[in-house]
Amino acid sequence: MNQILITPLDNGPLLVKGPMVLQDAEGNPFPVDKPQVGLCRCGHSARKPFCDGAHRGKFEDCCRVEK
Ligand code: FES
Repeated sequence: MNQILITPLDNGPLLVKGPMVLQDAEGNPFPVDKPQVGLCRCGHSARKPFCDGAHRGKFEDCCRVEK
């Protein structure tokens, strides 16, 4: 897979699949040892930028392409 696939999950994280480099604002890399990761988009995770499941029951958003 040459492209990274990013899917905003309903009421949850951004699911990112594919070869990636994930870094902080200073350019320091976060360890990514899996083919996919969930990135927090609710703001409640204690493991940012990764989702830790804290969104459950606290975050509602479903992204859809407008047609
Ligand atoms: S999206 Fe899961 S903890 Fe924020």
